[in-house]
Amino acid sequence: MPEPIPGEPFHILGPADVADGETRDYQVEGHSILVANCGGELWAIEDRCTHDNGPLAEGRLYRCEIECPRHGAKFDMKTGRATALPAFLPVAAYPLRVVDGQIEVQLVPPPQPRY
Ligand code: FES
Repeated sequence: MPEPIPGEPFHILGPADVADGETRDYQVEGHSILVANCGGELWAIEDRCTHDNGPLAEGRLYRCEIECPRHGAKFDMKTGRATALPAFLPVAAYPLRVVDGQIEVQLVPPPQPRY
């Protein structure tokens, strides 16, 4: 998981009740965030494919990779790294924590450039 950035605020997404192997999308501060539960751990990435802006939240989760529903690119939920073409740029991966049963994220790093 990306390390928390000192001084950056955390933003509440919602209850931390995403089941193992499932995903959920959230909107916060103008960002679309995809959260996945991989083996009991929660991870958060930007919910927009770097290939052509496909909605990753509508894709399938394989282990801890999300597959874009549009053309099949895959992204590592833990790092945001693109692991299958046609995407090759990463999506943003956000520091995440659970406080009092609520998922919170820092909205850094900023979204990656688009083509
Ligand atoms: S928009 Fe995601 S693979 Fe093309």
